[in-house]
Amino acid sequence: MALTTFQAELEAFAAAAQAAFIAAADADALEAARVEYLGAKSGRLKDVQKQLGGVPKEDKPAAGKAFNDAKTVVEAAFNEAKERLGSGAQATSREPFDRTLPGKRAPLGHLHPITQTIDELKDLMGRLGFTVAVGPEIEDEWHNFEALNIPAAHPARDPLENFYLSTAKVSTGKPGAAKSDAAKSDSGAPLLLRSQTSTVQIRVMENTKPPVRIISLGRVYRPDTADATHYPMFHQIEGLLIDRHVTMADLKSVLRLFASSFLGGDVHIRFRPSFFPFTEPSVEVDMSWHDDKGNLRWIEMGGAGMVDPNVLAAVGYDPEEVTGFAFGLGVERVCARRHNVTDIREFYRNDVRFLHQF
Ligand code: PHE
Repeated sequence: MALTTFQAELEAFAAAAQAAFIAAADADALEAARVEYLGAKSGRLKDVQKQLGGVPKEDKPAAGKAFNDAKTVVEAAFNEAKERLGSGAQATSREPFDRTLPGKRAPLGHLHPITQTIDELKDLMGRLGFTVAVGPEIEDEWHNFEALNIPAAHPARDPLENFYLSTAKVSTGKPGAAKSDAAKSDSGAPLLLRSQTSTVQIRVMENTKPPVRIISLGRVYRPDTADATHYPMFHQIEGLLIDRHVTMADLKSVLRLFASSFLGGDVHIRFRPSFFPFTEPSVEVDMSWHDDKGNLRWIEMGGAGMVDPNVLAAVGYDPEEVTGFAFGLGVERVCARRHNVTDIREFYRNDVRFLHQF
C-alpha cells in the first residue's frame, strides 16, 4: 500500500472517529463509539494499524509517525467527549465538527498608508543611489535655523510659527555629543520640534565629506490649523545631493523620475520661482494630475533649490569646489495624490474603514 493511500485511510479514520465522539449524546453512545473506533480487539484503529504492515519499507517511519499523531488526536477527542458527558448531566449533542472546513482567518493589521509610502519612497530613491539618513525630531536652533541661513531676526523663527519646548534638558541625539549638548541646554539654549527635515542636511554634511547623496524621511511639526492639506504634524522627504558640477537640471531630472515612478508615467512636474533662505535659486515643486473631468491640474508638493553657498560654508564645505541641490516634499501630499485622498486629516483619524483600504 502506498504511503499516500495509507495516509488517506488514516485521515478518514480520524475524521470519522472524532465526529462520532463529538456526536455521542450520552455515556452509552460514547462507549459504543469507543469500542467501534478504539476497541482493543476489533476496533477500527486496529484495522488501520494492520495496514501499516503493507507500507513500503522506506515509508515506514513517516507512516508510523502519522499513525501515532492520528491516534493522539483521536484519543484526545475521546477524552474531551468523556469529560463533557461526565460533568454535565446529559449534554446535548453538538453539531459534528467538520475538520475539512476552511478555518476562520484571524484579522491581521497592516502598515499605515504613510508608512507604506515612506518604505516605497526609500526603495525608489535607493535605486537612484540615495541612502537614508536620520535625525532627531527635537532640534536645536543651529540645525533648524542658523546653519540653514535663517538668522535670529528671521520671521520663520517666530515662536508662534514653531513648537518650542519649555524644557531645556533634552539631548539633541547627536552621538557622542550628549555632554556638550546638555551643557548647551543647561545654558538655556532653546530646543524645538523640528519644523523641517532640512535639519538632517546639516547633520549629515557636518559629519561627511562630499560627495553626499542622501534622503531623510520623518515627522516635522508646525502650529498650523488642520485642514484638507495641512496638519500640525506631517512627514517630509528631504533629498540632498552634493558633488562637483551639480546643476538645476540634475534636480529636475531626479524630481521628474520621482514623480513618474511614484505617481505614474503621465505625471509632469513644474518649478515656480520661490524663496528659501537655504537655497539659491529656490523653487516650489508642483506635480500634475487630471481631475474627474480630465482637466490638467497642479498640486504643490514642496520646495527645492540649489544649496545656498552660505549653507555649504556653515558646514565647512568649499562653495567654490562643490555645489548641490536639495528638496523637501510632503509625504502626506504625495500619498494623498497617489490614492486620490482629498483630505490629509483622514490619515490621522484612525478610522479603520479608511485605513484598511490601503
Ligand atoms: N524645508 C523646506 C520646507 O519645509 C523645503 C525645502 C527643502 C526647500 C529643501 C528647499 C530645499 O518648506
